[in-house]
Amino acid sequence: MATDATAAAQQFYGRWADLYDLLASATPGLGRLRARAADALALAPGDAVVEMGCGTGANLPHLRERVGPDGRVVGVDFTRGMLDRARERVDREGWRNVHLVQADAASVGFREPPDAILATFVVGMLADPAATVDRWADALAPGGRLALLDAAQSRRWFGWPVNRAFRGLVVASSPTGTDGYAAAPWTVLDDRVATARTALRERATETTHGEYAAGIVRLTAGRVE
Ligand SMILES: C[S@@+](CC[C@H](N)C(=O)[O-])C[C@H]1O[C@@H](n2cnc3c(N)ncnc32)[C@H](O)[C@@H]1O
Repeated sequence: MATDATAAAQQFYGRWADLYDLLASATPGLGRLRARAADALALAPGDAVVEMGCGTGANLPHLRERVGPDGRVVGVDFTRGMLDRARERVDREGWRNVHLVQADAASVGFREPPDAILATFVVGMLADPAATVDRWADALAPGGRLALLDAAQSRRWFGWPVNRAFRGLVVASSPTGTDGYAAAPWTVLDDRVATARTALRERATETTHGEYAAGIVRLTAGRVE
């Protein structure tokens, strides 16, 4: 049964899927960050990659390009409206090896372990990011790679004006606004993003970390044995 938070997220993203798609695809600089996240997976032609919380599919071209026609890309999301936009993209491009699945990324399982898992702007929405990152690490093929791309408050000394704007954006893009959180939503987001990274570092070797856009965006990736 869906929790209140899940139902609120599905309703929110279902309603705003078109606008989200525009922002996800056209925000200046975001395409480059998506390319970096895909690069961090070190994909090879023929690989199988899963994107958790794929939304409207803005990462799919980057993943499909790297695994080629003989690889496999699976996008998982629990919001039907977001997946519908992703489906339009897949149909438009005629990608036969890109599959979309409506499921909870925190519990979805795979028959064949994927070579890589990507989650962009998703772990901040997970109730238990550490346990979910652990599950994703367990699901990977040996030596598989996991990459997380997220936004959180900047830790740079000059970050405060950026953080002020960021906090407004977090409230505007939060499915429940400021309701339903024990702390401010940006604090919850910061904590979840940090917790997910700690979990990834505990499971992975060859970990890399980069910060972009005045420290607001962070990309962490590693290899799981
Ligand atoms: C901020 S959007 C990011 C979409 C996409 N990854 C991107 O970079 O544009 C978050 C997406 O994650 C999905 N999502 C959040 N929690 C999820 C979960 N537990 N299982 C599946 N999808 C989830 C939402 O439905 C939404 O489409």
